[in-house]
Amino acid sequence: MSSDSFAQEIDEGHDGAEAHSHESDAPRAMNVRPILIDTDPGQDDAIAILLALASPELEVTAITSVAGNVPQPLVTENSLGLLALAGREDVPVYRGCERPLLRDLVTAEYVHGPTGVDGAVLPPASVGVRSTHGVDHIIDACLEAPDASVTLCPIGPLTNIGMAIAKEPSIVGKIREIVWMGGAFDEAGNTTAVAEFNAYVDPHAAHIVFTSGIPLTIFPLDVTHKALMLPHHVEALASYGTPIAEAAAGMIRYYEIYDVDKYDLPGAPLHDPCVIGYLVDPSLFRGSSHHVRIDTTNEETIGNTYVEDSAGEPNATIITDVDAERFFTLVVERIGEM
Ligand code: BDR
Ligand code: CA
Repeated sequence: MSSDSFAQEIDEGHDGAEAHSHESDAPRAMNVRPILIDTDPGQDDAIAILLALASPELEVTAITSVAGNVPQPLVTENSLGLLALAGREDVPVYRGCERPLLRDLVTAEYVHGPTGVDGAVLPPASVGVRSTHGVDHIIDACLEAPDASVTLCPIGPLTNIGMAIAKEPSIVGKIREIVWMGGAFDEAGNTTAVAEFNAYVDPHAAHIVFTSGIPLTIFPLDVTHKALMLPHHVEALASYGTPIAEAAAGMIRYYEIYDVDKYDLPGAPLHDPCVIGYLVDPSLFRGSSHHVRIDTTNEETIGNTYVEDSAGEPNATIITDVDAERFFTLVVERIGEM
């Protein structure tokens, strides 16, 4: 995407009149769950976004970007490019935080490449980013929604969500569920010995979310390392031959190199798409409820997510198992047929 098209902003005026996010005035079909995706694309974020757009059970009301895998403005640019690829530029993109709440930003180009979505060249976007900040959009969208109706799908560091809760705590009652990819419990970390990337990048934001009282479902490495996209899945996806399928397969082929080498795995763990797979068909996954905490103080273990059931009531459902064959059938068919 050219920097010119990225620079274009949609001016929403001063009244936040577009805070409803989705452009369409068409009524939402019964049983379609509206979701907001908070993301740092990232090839696995990209597959998650495509899967969500391809799923009639879900309506993506907005995308908010957050610095993570690569810095701003790349994560915003990638979000816009993915919507252009999918022909879904009706979904608005809001640029979120540039850095974690307290710590310096840590990025992961060593996994995702310098653009974050290496392996594909995304088409230029014809629609720009919205002028409202991503954190303010999350707040506006929550305040306008009925109680306990909003589903937030953060698939990167929790900076935007933590910031929104800190800025406007009354959004808590508006949120039905936060479904987050992050953390590592019995599984080792992928960024330090104990910390998963999204947890490590902004542990303070994660602490705000964990202690907010909002119903939380967590997809840690414990489950996503069982969601391995194997070569035959990638070939099946590529065989659809569409621009979307080829771009998706190209991104996965690039992205799998790191984990296949580091962990000697037969395929790439598709972390972020698990969040969307769960919202489409919860029967694909299994987990249990616990009191979950995160280390924010000890430099050696910062970002470590752990269970301490003696410390309080359950505050999260930790997902630990996936029916990987059924999950990848869903991913391949949905994205292949887009
Ligand atoms: C998480 O970190 C990022 O690299 C991926 O996009 C995913 O959200 C996995 O640890
Ligand atoms: Ca991500």
